[in-house]
Amino acid sequence: MIAPSVRITTHAHFSAAHRLHNEAKDAEWNRRVFDKCNNPHGHGHTYALDVTVEGPVDPLTGWVMDFGVVKRVVHERVVKACDRKNLNVDVPFLSGVNPTAENIAIRIWDVLAPAVGPGRLVRIELHETERNKVVYTGPS
Ligand code: NI
Repeated sequence: MIAPSVRITTHAHFSAAHRLHNEAKDAEWNRRVFDKCNNPHGHGHTYALDVTVEGPVDPLTGWVMDFGVVKRVVHERVVKACDRKNLNVDVPFLSGVNPTAENIAIRIWDVLAPAVGPGRLVRIELHETERNKVVYTGPS
């Protein structure tokens, strides 16, 4: 019998500053497109992150994997790297990218995907505010 597959999700938070800016465009373009998000000295968000991993339920443990392991990986690779940081300059995995929620979610995927075994990363949900979130389900 094939073990049923289940998705498990862990939740985390980090507070960080960012400024939306496309280096390839001039100041006028950036102000027009990004408006207040282009303020020269940035602004902050408390980001909420949901990381979902899928896998078969191990008949010995009854779990897909230890929640503690997923939590630790998210903390070590994402929260520690981003919390109380300026996402435009302080976070190596965001280097060279305009730190929109979309781009942050894509880069978070890249740093977490190799580290959540035996589960398989299936979804990154990043809330920039209580009203706005992005969802990334991996390269297609
Ligand atoms: Ni913002």
